[in-house]
Amino acid sequence: MYVRSFADGNGDGTGDINGLRSRLRYLKELGIDAIWINPWYKSPLHDGGYDVSDYRVIEPRYGTVADAEALIADAHDHGIRLIIDLVPNHTSSEHAWFVEATQAQPGDPARQRYHIRKGRGVNGSEPPTNWTSVFGGPAWTRLDDGEWYLHLFDHTQPDLNWENPEVRSEFESVLRFWLDRGVDGFRVDVAHGLVKDMSFPDMDNSDQEILAGATQVDHPFWDLDGVHEIIRGWRTILEEYSLPGAERMMVAEAWVAAERLGNYLRPDEYHQSFNFDLLSSEWDAPSMRSIIAGACAQATSVGSTPTWVLSNHDVVRHATRYGLPSGTNWRRWLLEGPHDLLDAELGHRRARAAALTLLGLPGSSYIYQGDELGLPEVWDLPVEVLDDPVWEQSGHTRKGRDGCRVPLPWTPDGTSFGFGSNGSWLPQPPSFSALSAQNQTGNDASMLELYRRALSIRNEHLTMDESIRIIDSEPTVVAFERGSGVQCWLNLGDDPIRLPTNASVLLASEPIDKELPGNTSAWLTLPKTHTSSPR
Ligand code: NOJ
Repeated sequence: MYVRSFADGNGDGTGDINGLRSRLRYLKELGIDAIWINPWYKSPLHDGGYDVSDYRVIEPRYGTVADAEALIADAHDHGIRLIIDLVPNHTSSEHAWFVEATQAQPGDPARQRYHIRKGRGVNGSEPPTNWTSVFGGPAWTRLDDGEWYLHLFDHTQPDLNWENPEVRSEFESVLRFWLDRGVDGFRVDVAHGLVKDMSFPDMDNSDQEILAGATQVDHPFWDLDGVHEIIRGWRTILEEYSLPGAERMMVAEAWVAAERLGNYLRPDEYHQSFNFDLLSSEWDAPSMRSIIAGACAQATSVGSTPTWVLSNHDVVRHATRYGLPSGTNWRRWLLEGPHDLLDAELGHRRARAAALTLLGLPGSSYIYQGDELGLPEVWDLPVEVLDDPVWEQSGHTRKGRDGCRVPLPWTPDGTSFGFGSNGSWLPQPPSFSALSAQNQTGNDASMLELYRRALSIRNEHLTMDESIRIIDSEPTVVAFERGSGVQCWLNLGDDPIRLPTNASVLLASEPIDKELPGNTSAWLTLPKTHTSSPR
């Protein structure tokens, strides 16, 4: 949940904790069982809160620690667990440690909490390595005294040095601080990036976008073996706080090669790791089928459960991605177009079909706020309002992620469509009126009611037996059966296909009869087949 854009409780145009508390009932009625909340710590918000200046204080625009405690209690009263974001790879440049480091002399221990080094070349005027930032531009910025600090993201996000024992003990203490306040777990930011290998100064910098590059092996800062030891320490703390029925968990944001993901899921490491393969996949049946089969097999092999993600606060919303011609680089398309390539109606239809697939799968399905309303990417935000540091850091060559972070519409009218009482930090398009939660409630044909029905069926029939069997089907179809006997069929082609005879439809993304139209999905039940016993 992107708290900044969910609901604004105090009318300052920014979402906050009390706004979220006032919408817990909506979340309960939607049928979710946990919330992952993006960073809520004190922050200058240069990167939407992923630039933390104090890990034990709530950002004042979001509320206070007391509000956070009240939210945790309210969420638990609604039967909803709360997972918070842990940002251990970097702090904000406004964090007391970094301020101290920049005021200290070269060589001072205060500098050793970060990666601060002399440069190369004449007078050290070249950065220590040629690495580039994920957001574009060099990954090093020079301090006034001539040394350089590393930032894999924005220049306001200096990377911590995880070789330093002080960094390790500080994060263990932060973990305990929030566990003591009742959080149910952590989503760990850049989980694959904590350890750096400075003996590898020059690399091929061709592609450092957030979704790319991280899957290379032999990389100087992604997926180094040292990250696992750090995680094992955190897992021990979580076990200490876990009670039967109230376990504490960790989920990794690790953009690593599929065959390396299992390393993060060993029994003494993460409980889950996001699998971004579905999110990265084209609208293509063979690709989706093999991703589903592969992720389920991998989770089983390490005793974990699979995770599924179609969208999040870092990517173009899938209702828009699915409306673009196959092969479109949607990150570039945002800025470069051509925008008339977008078939928004098709994208919406496919997003409905994808929802039933996402929610039909075993394990944990992560829904990004607003997907349940069918929100599209707001791709035409004027550049003057862009807030994502990607826009500046990339030298205006990448538009960034604001288009999926536009505040949610709750009502068809009113200032900021019910998001708050006084506008919203990013402008909402007029089309948000029809997509507001209020407008969709009670309308059986709406995306919101589709999600509500799907989650209700999922909670009743699909969560007690996590097994899955892939069904042999036409080349354009992904079909699988869950342990309860419910089958999920997704037709990614344009032509209708025949459904199994005798199938009863539990739920479908479009009106259907005996055939499943193109770009449509359905959940089916079939009468049990009885084999006659031999005489
Ligand atoms: C991944 C987060 O999801 C993204 O929003 C953030 O910019 C980077 N990590 C850096 O913290």
